[in-house]
Amino acid sequence: MDHVRNDEVSQWWRTSITEVKPNSIRLRGYAVEELIGRIGFIDMLWLLVRGDLPTAPQARLLESAMLGGVDHGPHAPSIAIARMAVTCGVGMNTAVAEGIGVLGDIHGGAIEQSMELLRGLVNDETSTGDLLSLGQDVFERSQAYGGFVPGYGHRFHKRDPRSPRVLELASQAAQEGVIDGKFVHMAQRVEDAIAAVKGKPIPMNVDAAAGAVYLELGFEPPMGRALLVLSRSLGVIAHAWEQSGRKERIKGPVPKSSDYAYEGPAPRSLIDR
Ligand SMILES: CC(C)(COP(=O)(O)OP(=O)(O)OC[C@H]1O[C@@H](n2cnc3c(N)ncnc32)[C@H](O)[C@@H]1OP(=O)(O)O)[C@@H](O)C(=O)NCCC(=O)NCCS
Repeated sequence: MDHVRNDEVSQWWRTSITEVKPNSIRLRGYAVEELIGRIGFIDMLWLLVRGDLPTAPQARLLESAMLGGVDHGPHAPSIAIARMAVTCGVGMNTAVAEGIGVLGDIHGGAIEQSMELLRGLVNDETSTGDLLSLGQDVFERSQAYGGFVPGYGHRFHKRDPRSPRVLELASQAAQEGVIDGKFVHMAQRVEDAIAAVKGKPIPMNVDAAAGAVYLELGFEPPMGRALLVLSRSLGVIAHAWEQSGRKERIKGPVPKSSDYAYEGPAPRSLIDR
């Protein structure tokens, strides 16, 4: 009877990632002390998530794509919210959780939708048609995302400076045979296809560029959002830390001297009723 219970307990959490025994920690089979000092942080990420080590060019490309999303200053809600949280007196863990918590479908989380869209287009071989029909297909598929094509457009930039650089590195990697290049190619075609339908450019943002790279490297769309969270955590931590040194207390989203639009009933009284 005891034997049966022990078996149930040992099967409660099953994992292929980490084996911990007294005085021993193995990650995907490797002793942690052997990994420390021999591999990089990105190698470790890949090892844990994917089960084996990446090649050096794969790790370099993943790192480059992740660098694009690290920070966008206090204009980005993820950064502003983390800073505001600090001024409310919370610790770093809460500030970081608050910041990354808003990486939803429209903020950095659009990367997941962008990857779904690009993968669907590549799988359905939509790229074989002309630009206009690709564009119509893209807008049809984007109805699922509120009519906005995920990974394109930016509130602040007319041309997101991160995307061309990430795409340049991805194209180099495709030429060197590190990746196939089909998702990167599709991301570029979608930009042209949107322009063909709208009659004006809505340029690719870093989510589509990094998302295309993550697909090329074999990551699933939900993992794209996880990688973005990891990447943006750097900026969130830096801003939360900087803010914690400012000793400012309770900073709201706008200075208290500025007004906001009140849309409710005119002043009224219960007593007059
Ligand atoms: C980021 C985003 C919210 C910015 O939106 P915005 O501030 O309204 O952008 P703009 O003011 O430049 O939009 C101008 C026009 O382009 C359209 N537009 C912008 N992004 C678009 C998109 N991704 N798909 C379709 N149309 C888009 C707007 O509807 C607007 O059209 P209109 O002039 O005909 O009304 C928007 O581009 C978006 O939702 N993109 C998809 C989500 C995404 O990738 N988010 C990550 C951002 S880093």
